[in-house]
Amino acid sequence: MAALVVRQKKNTMDEFQLLIDLHKGGMRQGPGGDAQTKLALELARIDRKAPLKVADIGCGTGASTLMLAKHLNAQITAVDFLQEFLDDLTSRAEQAGVADKISTLTCSMDDLPFANDELDVIWAEGAIYNIGFEKGVSEWRRFLKAGGVLVASEITWITDSRSSEIQEHWDAEYPEIDTASAKIKILEKHGYSPIGYFVLPEDCWVKEYYAPMQSRFEEFLSRHKNSEEAMAIVHAEQKEIDLYRRFKAHYSYGVYIATKI
Ligand SMILES: C[S@@+](CC[C@H](N)C(=O)[O-])C[C@H]1O[C@@H](n2cnc3c(N)ncnc32)[C@H](O)[C@@H]1O
Repeated sequence: MAALVVRQKKNTMDEFQLLIDLHKGGMRQGPGGDAQTKLALELARIDRKAPLKVADIGCGTGASTLMLAKHLNAQITAVDFLQEFLDDLTSRAEQAGVADKISTLTCSMDDLPFANDELDVIWAEGAIYNIGFEKGVSEWRRFLKAGGVLVASEITWITDSRSSEIQEHWDAEYPEIDTASAKIKILEKHGYSPIGYFVLPEDCWVKEYYAPMQSRFEEFLSRHKNSEEAMAIVHAEQKEIDLYRRFKAHYSYGVYIATKI
């Protein structure tokens, strides 16, 4: 749901509801994949048997939450400000037999109710950019125990230079987009020790996110009787997909893994 979030401030309420409607049927609302969630878990060196307290922030319909529940001995608070997504997550958790490990919290990520040093793990896939990477890592740090782990994926330049067309697009959508070295510096500046980093492969964008979304376009448009607003949303999503196809050599999501010092 990159498009939803980056355009959010410019959306009217109706457009926002339409975006929710398009995205709530999806397993994911942004690029990612179960294998990559597992890889991040390995790089985070989390003790899978220890009883852990985990927050999955901006969890959407819960693809990462379900993976964490399956692989950890944890109590997971799944946080999102959209109740519709959390309702989907609850049904999926029940179907997967992991509902007892997950509680949902409808809350904005800039007003989280956790206590200082409460959490062993903070997880945020494709979501921290809603408040900005630097603000997120600095504000959320106090919720982590010393030695606790932050795992956050963040849109990242994967080359040092690029055409002005894609530079200007992302500068307008998300001015904090930067290289991994710059993001790692931010983590260090805010009291984290980076212990892992990898880049999401193309499948995480195309197979896991864009293709399933495109397969929902037709029904979405017919549900909304091809309204101008619904068509505009599909058009904007398609534009984002086309940009990715043309410029994927230059950006992806980086997955950052860091411990609280
Ligand atoms: C790109 S989606 C990623 C969802 C999920 N983590 C995934 O990878 O499929 C971003 C999520 O952040 C949520 N979100 C956006 N702004 C938020 C805020 N201020 N507080 C809490 N959640 C927010 C959206 O509702 C959405 O579910």
